[in-house]
Amino acid sequence: MKGDTSKKRFGTRAIHAGQAPEPVTGAVAVPIFQTSTYVQPALDEISKYDYARSVNPTREALEQNVASLENGVDAQAFSSGMAAITTLMTLVGADEHAVFSQNVYGGTYRLLNQVLNRYRVRSSWVDTTDLDALRVSLTPATKLVFLESPTNPMMEITDISAVCEIAHEQGVKVAVDNTFLSPYVQRPLDLGADFVVHSTTKFLNGHSDSIGGVLISKDQEDADWFQFALKSSGAILAPFDCFLTMRGIKTLAVRMDRHESNTQQIVALLKDHPAVKTTLYPGLPDFPGHEIQKRQASGFGAMVSFDVGSYARAHSVLGSVEVFSLAESLGGVESLISHPASMTHASIPEERRQALGITDGLVRISVGIEDAEDLVDDLKAALDGLD
Ligand SMILES: Cc1ncc(COP(=O)(O)O)c(C=O)c1O
Repeated sequence: MKGDTSKKRFGTRAIHAGQAPEPVTGAVAVPIFQTSTYVQPALDEISKYDYARSVNPTREALEQNVASLENGVDAQAFSSGMAAITTLMTLVGADEHAVFSQNVYGGTYRLLNQVLNRYRVRSSWVDTTDLDALRVSLTPATKLVFLESPTNPMMEITDISAVCEIAHEQGVKVAVDNTFLSPYVQRPLDLGADFVVHSTTKFLNGHSDSIGGVLISKDQEDADWFQFALKSSGAILAPFDCFLTMRGIKTLAVRMDRHESNTQQIVALLKDHPAVKTTLYPGLPDFPGHEIQKRQASGFGAMVSFDVGSYARAHSVLGSVEVFSLAESLGGVESLISHPASMTHASIPEERRQALGITDGLVRISVGIEDAEDLVDDLKAALDGLD
């Protein structure tokens, strides 16, 4: 499209923000600039495009696109969600402190406890749904609060605006890992957060064929630091993955609608099925945090966890389903099923897993965009098969 995309609606920006036709040929799809370097016009004339670790037009297009969708000023694209989170953590130095939602993605926990701890970066793991617990966790050394809402896999909902207010009073910045919902459903910067991170591997790319991450900032000064840190560490997203991710994002709005309507049909099955002890989904009216979720997001997402009571029963469900694939990850067009205790959260010590409620009977599903009836039939058959 011609002109400024900033005033357009979400679905239009998903397709057009950062995607101006390529100036030489007019190509509608942003080309994959598969180059490591660029010719410099003259020895004393340095162009913005000097070396592709610093800047690449395909990557820039994706960064502008996601910055627009999250209502940020700028973004950086990384080789994985964990690379984005690692770069975010450059805001916290030795003997400084960050507060995390207590059941964030296991890889984030591992990064802090087994890697960044070696650099004396301190972390606390707090139930951020409890605002008093958050308040007391902030110390003069705290630089960052890092939230997931909903959390993985317990689906706990944190009041993002309330956390931002408390943190900002103490001069502490707030980052939200928005991987589970995508900006179509929730935009944390609008709720007061300073940064959003995504594993683009999930809903943004949406097709389970690329690993990537983005970090979106509200202030240019922070974004400039992250750009410098990215160029320095080199954890860039490759041009082909930028292309795939942009292509995925173009259908984000329609995919998310279908993901969520399919999820509602699956939740209707789970909540009444006798083999299911508990169903964790923020869309259920009696789920803690349901009202907060209604206020701070436009939907409830496509991630559901449910407890079937024991490892053996979970094993049976995971082994019986046919349309759902047993796999880590989430957010793709295909439905996936997993066992958090032995898969995504295996790096969390057992005692801590139990305290968080990640039991051996807990199963997590990422609902895809297949026909809902096939998904419901598949899961029903697996649950009916339990004694
Ligand atoms: C919520 C969340 N954040 C971050 C990550 C890390 O992303 P990646 O696997 O792209 O490094 C994941 C991966 O599963 C995740 O689920």
